[in-house]
Amino acid sequence: MKKADVAKAILADQLFSMPQHSCAEAFAPTNIALGKYWGKRNQELNLPVTSSLSISLDNKGATAQLKINEKHRDDIILNNRLIDPTSSFAKRLIEFLNLFRENEKPNFDITIQSNIPIAAGLASSACGFASIIKALNNLYGWNLDSQELSILARLGSGSASRSIWSGFVEWHAGTRDDGMDSYGEPISTLWPDLIIGLLIFSEQDKGLSSRVAMQRTIETSLLYNSWPSKVAHDLPLLKQAIATQDFELLGKTAESNALTMHATMLSAWPPINYCLPETLLTMQKIWRLREEGLPIYFTQDAGPNLKLLFLKNSLADVRSHFSLI
Ligand code: DP6
Repeated sequence: MKKADVAKAILADQLFSMPQHSCAEAFAPTNIALGKYWGKRNQELNLPVTSSLSISLDNKGATAQLKINEKHRDDIILNNRLIDPTSSFAKRLIEFLNLFRENEKPNFDITIQSNIPIAAGLASSACGFASIIKALNNLYGWNLDSQELSILARLGSGSASRSIWSGFVEWHAGTRDDGMDSYGEPISTLWPDLIIGLLIFSEQDKGLSSRVAMQRTIETSLLYNSWPSKVAHDLPLLKQAIATQDFELLGKTAESNALTMHATMLSAWPPINYCLPETLLTMQKIWRLREEGLPIYFTQDAGPNLKLLFLKNSLADVRSHFSLI
């Protein structure tokens, strides 16, 4: 099964229909996984080995604008910079857009404005593809529901399937070969006192994409065999922590999940290490502060930056130790 077959299955007669508007835009939040997606059972469709669970950052994400142009090419402007059409980012985005238009027409001016560093392990591809699919839905007037948007966003990037919603979202791994049961589902519980603080050590491109890193991990790391049981252990605990607003349980489960994911990468060959010296020094600082009584935890994705987890009543304390963005 190909991506194009999934687009056809969801859009049916609406696939390759005429856009209803000449311009449309949409916002999607970035999401931070507390229980990670690491490894695919199907690379073409971005079907994951395990389910995962995230929280969206409402005020941080991407706004995508699609405007039909007559230039016979797509122009992509990312954070006010025209992107080289031969770059891997542009190719991936154009390949995604081509799923929804016949013979690569119409062409678009695509403007993506993101208020988080791109490709620094801050889930920017997630909000990028989620905002694009939402903008396409508006442009073509498809009227798809959120579950269908989640499936289509997943074809661009797995974690984008969770960026359709705000708040907590579980992405069900599903078991079907066509992935029609692999989509995000919002968890209705709100937790207004929970804060995710971003600590940026580097805004450089992370070098190795999560796509390549997770595949290498699956293929070469013996530790990867234990990853599905780690996730099966952690996801119910995360859901319990959210339901009962048990911050300690949430923090330790999320931190341990992230560290286990990175352990599978370190044991891959060639080894994969996303940490900078600052990343490790900051982990030690967090562990020390926690021992001294500050309730603070972290998570880390496929990049050197850390995301801090803490409650609103610790904000002043946390700010006195870290400069958050
Ligand atoms: C470490 O969604 O970027 O952030 O599906 O290949 O595009 P592709 O991968 P991507 O992987 C994200 C991995 C992660 C963990 C997570 O967000 O769950």
